[in-house]
Amino acid sequence: MAPPSAVPFTAVVLLLVATAAASAQLRPKYYSQTCPDAERIVREVMRKAMIREPRSVASVMRFQFHDCFVNGCDGSLLLDDTPTMLGEKLALSNINSLRSFEVVDEIKDALERACPGVVSCADIVIMAARDAVALTGGPDWEVKLGRKDSLTASQEDSSNIMPSPRSNATFLINLFAKFNLSARDMVALSGSHSIGQARCFSIMFRLYNQSGTGKPDPAMDPEYRLKLDKLCPLGGDENVTGDLDATPRVFDNQYFKDLVAGRGFLNSDQTLYTMAETRDYVRAFSKDQIEFFKAFVEGMIKMGDLLSGRPGEIRKNCRVVNSWPVDILLES
Ligand code: HEM
Repeated sequence: MAPPSAVPFTAVVLLLVATAAASAQLRPKYYSQTCPDAERIVREVMRKAMIREPRSVASVMRFQFHDCFVNGCDGSLLLDDTPTMLGEKLALSNINSLRSFEVVDEIKDALERACPGVVSCADIVIMAARDAVALTGGPDWEVKLGRKDSLTASQEDSSNIMPSPRSNATFLINLFAKFNLSARDMVALSGSHSIGQARCFSIMFRLYNQSGTGKPDPAMDPEYRLKLDKLCPLGGDENVTGDLDATPRVFDNQYFKDLVAGRGFLNSDQTLYTMAETRDYVRAFSKDQIEFFKAFVEGMIKMGDLLSGRPGEIRKNCRVVNSWPVDILLES
């Protein structure tokens, strides 16, 4: 996927310039007058989704990362393709991977019933990500709201920007730095892999041909590698999924303990411990869950501040911009 130079630097600079001004418009309790029940409604739909399918809240939480890194937190990720626009859902890192979009639709439907045309899809992503963490035992925090929904999406930008599971810590530090996020933020945010699952597809290379050696990643605990070999045999179904840490339904610091023990699922996870630049953060978070939670919340808030400064709207349906009548899209 994207080499470091593929991230359009001028675009990122512009984004950050716009961010400083635009994020000033975001504030807590933004909907307290216009839709006082908004946050309660989002949490309730997320709670029901978690009961129905525990993994779904992790899947929804991931949307914040994949939305905010691509031209700011503007709900562009949620747009379906149209005859004239390739959406982000089918970008390299998203296709056959992002899931549970129907939970966002359910949240939007509930909000439209309570207060039509008020709450943006971009804000739903931010609230739902926070709720996923809180509902699975992680920290709870106040989110800043007031984002507008994008009028467009860019599959190309998403494919160029979103990191591959093969990435190493140096690459990730550089990528996150372009979004005003420090190495500490990056390691803490990777702790989101405390919940959820990933496909064999994402780790085949590290099991059987790490860096073209024809051998597995030497950083893996041998017992864990045998387990993953069984889960993901060569020639097997690469859509089979495995847990991202030993407690995939609980948001805790087990993910970091697993990294210290050589039991990280993705290469991008394990490299955070293997490489000297990030090892101390992993060690610290593995020993102190409170420190991890604090750093994670700070990172989520900073990531939520990424805005493009482009014009926006409040969509009626998170999959479609208002100027595209739904019936025309259904016919096409
Ligand atoms: C640091 C760079 C990151 C990389 C390289 C990365 C990569 C990945 C990959 C490859 C998967 C599994 C995809 C699949 O096999 O289908 C995944 C899953 C996931 N990612 Fe990340 N990720 C990163 C950071 C983040 C961040 C910052 C968040 C959220 C704040 C996040 C949240 C998640 C969650 C919750 C899942 C599990 C989703 C599910 O169970 O459906 N990731 N990530």
